[in-house]
Amino acid sequence: MAFPIQRLRRLRVSEAMRRLVRETRLEAQQFILPLFVCPGEGVRKEISSMPGNFQLSIDQLVKECEQARSLGLGGVILFGIPEHKDELASEAYAENGITQRAVRAVKAAVPELLLITDVCNCEYTSHGHCGKIAGNDVDNDATLAWLAEAALSHARAGADMVAPSDMMDGRVAAIRHSLDAHGFSKTPILSYAAKYASVFYGPFREAAESAPAFGDRRSYQMDPANAREALHEMELDLEEGADMLMVKPALPYLDIIRMARERFPVPIGAYQVSGEFSMIVAAARNGWLDLERAMMESLISIRRAGADFILTYFAKDAARALG
Ligand code: PBG
Repeated sequence: MAFPIQRLRRLRVSEAMRRLVRETRLEAQQFILPLFVCPGEGVRKEISSMPGNFQLSIDQLVKECEQARSLGLGGVILFGIPEHKDELASEAYAENGITQRAVRAVKAAVPELLLITDVCNCEYTSHGHCGKIAGNDVDNDATLAWLAEAALSHARAGADMVAPSDMMDGRVAAIRHSLDAHGFSKTPILSYAAKYASVFYGPFREAAESAPAFGDRRSYQMDPANAREALHEMELDLEEGADMLMVKPALPYLDIIRMARERFPVPIGAYQVSGEFSMIVAAARNGWLDLERAMMESLISIRRAGADFILTYFAKDAARALG
């Protein structure tokens, strides 16, 4: 038998050769850093389940955003932790809510940094659910008005893009109408279109103090068993006026990212969520994995699956690793 003519190892022989034939690349501008803003001054409170991530008061947040800009990140996404939570999520859409004030401060200090806001109610409700409670469930249509109001208040404060993460039906259309009716037709919507009811949000709920007080989110977030339904969600969000789509979480849902990439022409984002981050950090802290290699391999996998950009708590470290 003849010796093989094809030897794929020829193109793996050196780093120079591997670099030349590399199909997928990572760049700092593909990463979006999630940040948590809280009341107070000089507050920088580490989130125990997410080492290296903090609840930041506005002054500290501004510093973090300056760093994000100097590292060349694609942007940041803001989550607000309000002073008071109530049944009506009042601070989610208050003109002077924590997120709205934070947006104004960041935009004044670092205007060229792309600033996205998460639009949801779970951080602002006393019960931790993503909308208005009726009986034992979230009332979809009543919640739409809150979301539209919140998105508008973020745009008024200066947000470059709004990202609804609540999974109510019809929220993209409700937000689009409200933005357009008030002079914000240029503000894009990044829809968390395929957001699964995932256990991997656990550490985030500590960070945002947003664990539901009763029940869970399975009546609005997607069943992890479903893929076709994700395409249906995305199709509807595009019809309603979404400019970009997101899949969340990322690594356990690479097939969904790939399907979205093949099916839709719009930019696709993926959210490497808190639990995905914490698993890697925890394993590294135990000496079981090399942190930097695990970080970079997970990020390149998400890009290879088809994501144009990644929301990740590794954004700064990955940008530094890329040099
Ligand atoms: C708000 C929201 C959540 C996340 C992003 N936006 C939590 C949830 O749905 O419970 C999770 C992000 C993460 O885990 O990093 N609805």
